[in-house]
Amino acid sequence: MMQIRNNESCRAILFIFGATGDLATKKILPSLQQWYGDETPFAKIWCLGRRPLDEAAFFSLVESKGGFKLSDALKNRIGYHCLDFDDSPAYPALANRLDEGTSTAQRLFFLAVKPEAFLTITTKLHATGLFIKDRSDHRLLFEKPFGDSLETAGEIQSHLMALAAEEQLYRIDHYLGKEMIRNVLAIRFANRIFSESWHSRAIESVEITSIETAGVEERLEYYDQTGAINDMVQSHLLQMLALVAMESPENLGSEPIRLKKINILEHIKLIPGLPPIVGQYQGYHQQGKNSQTETYAEVVLEIDTPQWQGTRFILKTGKMLGEKRTEIRLRYRPNSLCLSCADTMNAAPNQLVIEVYPSEGIRLTFSSKVPGYDFIMEPVTADYCHSCRMMANKPESYIKLLKDALMGDKTLFASFDELQAQWRIADAIKAASRENPLIIYPPGTKTVTAKREMSC
Ligand code: BG6
Repeated sequence: MMQIRNNESCRAILFIFGATGDLATKKILPSLQQWYGDETPFAKIWCLGRRPLDEAAFFSLVESKGGFKLSDALKNRIGYHCLDFDDSPAYPALANRLDEGTSTAQRLFFLAVKPEAFLTITTKLHATGLFIKDRSDHRLLFEKPFGDSLETAGEIQSHLMALAAEEQLYRIDHYLGKEMIRNVLAIRFANRIFSESWHSRAIESVEITSIETAGVEERLEYYDQTGAINDMVQSHLLQMLALVAMESPENLGSEPIRLKKINILEHIKLIPGLPPIVGQYQGYHQQGKNSQTETYAEVVLEIDTPQWQGTRFILKTGKMLGEKRTEIRLRYRPNSLCLSCADTMNAAPNQLVIEVYPSEGIRLTFSSKVPGYDFIMEPVTADYCHSCRMMANKPESYIKLLKDALMGDKTLFASFDELQAQWRIADAIKAASRENPLIIYPPGTKTVTAKREMSC
């Protein structure tokens, strides 16, 4: 395999498939813009989309969809190429547009497209020689979801194996690039106060929440075939759960972390008799033409390992809710020590919240004596604001992931084994969710479960 020196990344070429879509215009290109303020990571960025646009029209589309102004530094590097994924001649036409002397440049192909298009695009890239199997500096990045079930993920993977080596595949879950999600392992394993009490004897429940105020907006076609379970639970929420529940890896290398995540994912189970709650926001039904797709999902899981027997893991996600918030909340069991057992003691169980969005930090709630002569307790909170320390240079998750992909570091990318385990759980959640009616909730609601009587 050809090896690449790290300092060659500035000669790399990035190809973004799905460049006029929401992901590219709202996340990838704004991240690149931030990155180009400090460095010039890619010599050229080829943006590929179906729409016949010239570069000026593409720039204004990005600016209006993405809600930001492209810098000249970034514009100077971008080329737009009209390419229908199925259109075979469009690929050699793209190859012809590459600058002379770029055949040795590192190539990252970012497939920000639906999983159905993964194989079509990879097959044509391979046939044209734009992507070469076993060239370690040619890498394919797949946006999630990788398939729509365990079965389709397996089909995609087995076809890909004819076109690419596993080392060349980077399966993206952008939550893994988020600052506070990367912080989970540090919090857990570098602090005795947490590592010693990280088990079911101390922790009653772990609630992982990622809710948003936005609806499906322009992504109806994708979302309606996907739903909240495949869109969020299968990837982001299960990856967060794996980081919270996995055992300590031997070191922070990519393989030890991936192995520990797989081990724990394989022990995650639904609780019998507790089917997932699914909901849909009012208005989606018309938008989605009588669709039954869930825009909200809440599921309670357990992990059958000695460390976690008896702890409940609650995953919650939904669109069009009252707030945008992502967090991991650990609720500890009440302390068995009863100082006087009077009501005035007021001691509340501890809670540890790892805040991912909108705040980034850690909140620990514990009991303390109220100042004064009497012995009365109250819950108080110690608050660590992580984001306060990085205002000027807030790391963007897609920058982190692209940097790692350039360097060949796979720690923050899901292995196929992890994905298989995630799909096994997601498929079981989808099947069990059919036992509950779809709850219709009003946009902006704070809680979906309370609206059960509104089910259709
Ligand atoms: C994406 C989902 O992976 O994550 C979207 O496809 C969702 O539906 C988004 O809105 C949420 O990401 P973030 O970073 O805004 O929490």
